[in-house]
Amino acid sequence: MHIDAIDWTLAKALLEWQVEMGVDEAILDTPLSRYELPETSPAKAAAAVAVPGKKAASEPPPPPVEANPVADAQVAASRAASLDALRAAIDAFEHCDLKRGARNLVFADGNPAARVLVLGEAPGREEDIEGRPFVGRAGQLLDRMLAAIGLDRSSESAESAVYITNVLPWRPPQNRDPSPEEIAMMRPFVERHIGLVNPDVIVLMGNISCDAALGRRGILRMRGQWAEAFGHPALPMVHPAYLLRNPAAKREAWADLLSLKARLTGL
Ligand code: URA
Repeated sequence: MHIDAIDWTLAKALLEWQVEMGVDEAILDTPLSRYELPETSPAKAAAAVAVPGKKAASEPPPPPVEANPVADAQVAASRAASLDALRAAIDAFEHCDLKRGARNLVFADGNPAARVLVLGEAPGREEDIEGRPFVGRAGQLLDRMLAAIGLDRSSESAESAVYITNVLPWRPPQNRDPSPEEIAMMRPFVERHIGLVNPDVIVLMGNISCDAALGRRGILRMRGQWAEAFGHPALPMVHPAYLLRNPAAKREAWADLLSLKARLTGL
C-alpha cells in the first residue's frame, strides 16, 4: 500500500492492530547501523529534547557579545565617587592584559589636595614591586627636580604638595610602550582620576602622557608649551628617564620647572 493511500483513520487502525498483536517497537524497512550514528550521551539527548519556550540544545549558540573595553571603562570610571572607589574600579577592570602580568596595581602617591598633579607613563620594575609610582631611578630624579622648585610629594600642605599618578596602572612587560588600545581603555580612568583630584595644573611627563592627555606625541617639540588637558592647564615635560640618558636636556627641563613655578605663583 502506498503511503499516500493511508489516511488518519486507517493509520490509527493499523497502529492499534499492531499494538494488539504485541508490537512494542518500530522497525524500519531498511537496517540502521548504530555504529555510524553520531555519539550522543543520554544527558545530551535529553537536553536536545525541545522544551516549549526554550531553544533546543542543538541550535548554534548565539554569537558572543563584542567586548567594548573603552565603554566599560567609561561606565566604571564615571561611577567612582572617590579615589578609593576609583582604585577599586581599576582593580576590578579585567580588559587590560597588563593586569595579569603585573605584581601590583600602581594607583598614585602624594597628597590628593596638591595643586600639582604629575601624570607619568607607566610603572617600571621598582614601581611594580612597591605598588607606588616613580620610586626607581627616574622617580628619584623627579623628586629632586620637584624639590628644586619647593615641591614635595610627602608634603601635607597643598601649596608645596604633589600628587603623582600614571596613564597605565600596571607595568607593561619589559617596560615596552603601552599600545594605543591600552592607552585608550585606561584613559577614562585617568580622566576621572584628574577630575577627582582637581589640581590647578598638570605636568605631562613624557610622550605617553601627552598622547593620553592631548592626543599627540613629539615631546621634544611640545615640552615647555602650556596646553590644556582634561580642562586644566598642562605642561608637557621630558620624562626624567630621558634626562638620565640625556643629561644635556636637563637645562631645558630646568626652564620648564621655572615655568611651572611661575604659573603656580601667578594663579
Ligand atoms: N616612569 C613613569 O612614567 N612612571 C613611573 O611610575 C615610573 C617610571
